[in-house]
Amino acid sequence: MVKLAPSILSADFNRLGETLSAVEKAGIMILHLDVMDGHFVPNISFGPLIVEAVRRATSRMHLNVHLMIRDPLLYTPQFYKAGADSIIFHREVTTDPVELAGAIQSEANYRVKVGISYNPETPIDGFEQLEGICSEILVMSVHPGFGGQQFIPETLTKVKKIAEYNKAAKEPFIISIDGGINPRTAPLAIAAGAQVIVAGNAFFKDQGEYRYDHFNEIANTLLGS
Ligand code: DX5
Ligand code: ZN
Repeated sequence: MVKLAPSILSADFNRLGETLSAVEKAGIMILHLDVMDGHFVPNISFGPLIVEAVRRATSRMHLNVHLMIRDPLLYTPQFYKAGADSIIFHREVTTDPVELAGAIQSEANYRVKVGISYNPETPIDGFEQLEGICSEILVMSVHPGFGGQQFIPETLTKVKKIAEYNKAAKEPFIISIDGGINPRTAPLAIAAGAQVIVAGNAFFKDQGEYRYDHFNEIANTLLGS
């Protein structure tokens, strides 16, 4: 079953609590939290304080923390303590993703799931070595840093390649896709094999205005159900 992971980057932070209650009521099981450090990406978003506040707002939803930061290991303990369920680091910040994934696990007392993300221009060569170490691969379908960008269709090649690999894998990867997902692009991502689709603007905004309810309808539209 394909799942939707709303990215709170596009939510109204002034009304975050009530927004998240409505999201949870709509049956959403995963939240996507975009952490940006102003170095790895040319934007700054939020850190552990907001993750912790989100954790207090929902005990049921799985918190996927997408670290678009240069030094994920340094901040892992803080995000773990803040309540992250999954910590996703970027392939571009390390020469040894296997080692980094293991180190993140260890820093989080083996209590989080670890995922890896690839920028649109980063090849996924060698991803097979991460089987059993990273539970999730997050394919970036926009250049990370900002919500509301155009979907890059070429990135679907990576989704297809991982989906193909999964067929014979002992511990298949969860394939997620992030960026530019809307009612037009979501079916393409799902057809390619994406199992988690991240959506920011398409989920939390309606013609430029923040949405505070009717999350069920937009979720059904994006998931095609
Ligand atoms: C981009 C972030 C995305 C972003 C998606 O750097 O990683 O998660 O919030 O936003 P939309 O769905 O608006 O492209
Ligand atoms: Zn993201």
